[in-house]
Amino acid sequence: MNLSDFREDYRQGALDSAGLDANPLAQFESWFRQATGETAQSRWRKIGIALYKLWSALGNHRPADINAMTLATVDASGKPSTRTVLLKGVDARGFLFFTNYDSRKGRELAANPNAALTFFWPDLERQVCVAGTVAKLPAAESETYFRSRPRGSRLAAWASEQSQPVPDRAALEARWRELETTFAADIPLPPNWGGFVLKPERIEFWQGRPSRLHDRFSYTLEADGFWKRERLSP
Ligand SMILES: Cc1cc2nc3c(=O)[nH]c(=O)nc-3n(C[C@H](O)[C@H](O)[C@H](O)COP(=O)(O)O)c2cc1C
Repeated sequence: MNLSDFREDYRQGALDSAGLDANPLAQFESWFRQATGETAQSRWRKIGIALYKLWSALGNHRPADINAMTLATVDASGKPSTRTVLLKGVDARGFLFFTNYDSRKGRELAANPNAALTFFWPDLERQVCVAGTVAKLPAAESETYFRSRPRGSRLAAWASEQSQPVPDRAALEARWRELETTFAADIPLPPNWGGFVLKPERIEFWQGRPSRLHDRFSYTLEADGFWKRERLSP
């Protein structure tokens, strides 16, 4: 397989200091809304998104997971792992996601709270990279989110010992069915399941530009609580 000719030239947009919010979380929210198509900048993009939605509905394609992000953690010896998780909220505290606290990521984050996130929105030719430290969300907040999930997903959270070996698919499904009976009425929050919030220390916004001369701006949290903003070389 020869991938040397897989090459895109990026022409969708540009980024300059004047167009960026002083607060990177506000900037993120603005880019996120644009990625969903909610606040499409141009008429052509709105039309493109409408056509994409129609194509998705007709072809039974799933819409792109705009809130999917790559989460990086490190183990005790400093070896990194990545996986995709879904962003479930952004607020003044940072970036929220939910998972099994006994999973590989859950154990790694308990031992070392340093983590990083990457979002890639190809149709906007944008990337956002975030680094910081995580903390567990209060159980009451995890419970509120857990109860908003469909019944099947709530049962799956109980059925899956996430990241542990399982003999076969049948064992997993049998466990799920068993739990359907156990929790015929209410499905409580599993004790090892809940949210994390990643408090950002650095956030970088990347906009693809022609000829690989991309625009990059990084925000770094300073000791006085202010965000320092710098243009970075691509
Ligand atoms: C699009 C997508 C979204 C996912 N969202 C989550 C999520 O929100 N939480 C989660 O625990 N796992 C999620 N997963 C599964 C994880 O990528 C991963 O397989 C799982 O969490 C176990 O990771 P670990 O063994 O590194 O802890 C998602 C996977 C994909 C592809």
